[in-house]
Amino acid sequence: MAYETINVDIQDHVCLIKLNRPEALNALNSVLLGELCAALEDADASDKVRCIVLTGSEKAFAAGADIKEMADMSYVDVFTSNLFADTNNRICAIRKPIIAAVAGYALGGGCEVAMMCDFIIAAETAKFGQPEINLGVVAGMGGTQRLTRFVGKSKSMDMNLTGRFMTAEEAERAGLVSRVVPAKKLIEEAMGAAQKIAEKSMLTSVAVKESVNRAYELPLSEGMLFERRVFHAMFATEDQKEGMAAFLEKREAQFRDK
Ligand code: HXC
Repeated sequence: MAYETINVDIQDHVCLIKLNRPEALNALNSVLLGELCAALEDADASDKVRCIVLTGSEKAFAAGADIKEMADMSYVDVFTSNLFADTNNRICAIRKPIIAAVAGYALGGGCEVAMMCDFIIAAETAKFGQPEINLGVVAGMGGTQRLTRFVGKSKSMDMNLTGRFMTAEEAERAGLVSRVVPAKKLIEEAMGAAQKIAEKSMLTSVAVKESVNRAYELPLSEGMLFERRVFHAMFATEDQKEGMAAFLEKREAQFRDK
């Protein structure tokens, strides 16, 4: 499918989605968000895709929601359209793993979309921030909620109240990103991680994603029960038999998603 604001490329079972509005530092306008959700849903439904990488440009993953598009909206406009609820819900409904590969600015909605992904690999040039306060608004897609769960109250308050940007190094220290790599290696590193995930059983990857995400929704005892039930359920799969047999026979497992 041809898109206007994103590029999509599938290689070796990994779908690479690149945000592509360079004239606006990949600001998230309604066309881009619609195309991003559609591309993610296509990848989720495709037999050819086992993992997804979402990236931007060297200068910007995304510099936030499109301010030009929002500037003249009224309370009634944003309330009635339930602005950004659909984007959040559609991205969070994707079952396959999504890696955000972030270089340059990931601000406002850009940081929030990165946080909706399953983990973030950052280039040394990455800058994360929730500068909405400078525009007279609060974050609207997780900047006060997900960021607080990732980095804790003090740093989240700092980011949301001052609007300052966090470097990749600080973001890694704070637990927002899983690894920091040289900018030139960002895509190679993210595609390598995606490739590793693509080699596993899809049944297991989806189970991991659902289980880890429960940690953000449930009290520990309920989360532990969910994890244990999923763990037990894996013993009904052929891939569990194959994975354990391969270990004992000292060979690579050949998973079949069964
Ligand atoms: C629309 C944007 C934009 C944005 C940048 N541009 N960010 N357009 N919405 N969020 C446009 C600029 O207007 C400019 O277009 C071009 O991109 C290049 O940007 P510059 O500002 O000239 O670049 P630079 O000086 O390098 O500064 C980069 C920057 C700055 C620090 C990232 O652009 C910036 O502060 N952007 C806004 C960041 C922000 O406030 N994000 C939060 C948005 S609110 P022209 O046509 O002038 O060349 C938000 C709400 C989330 O995300 C709620 C839920 C989603």
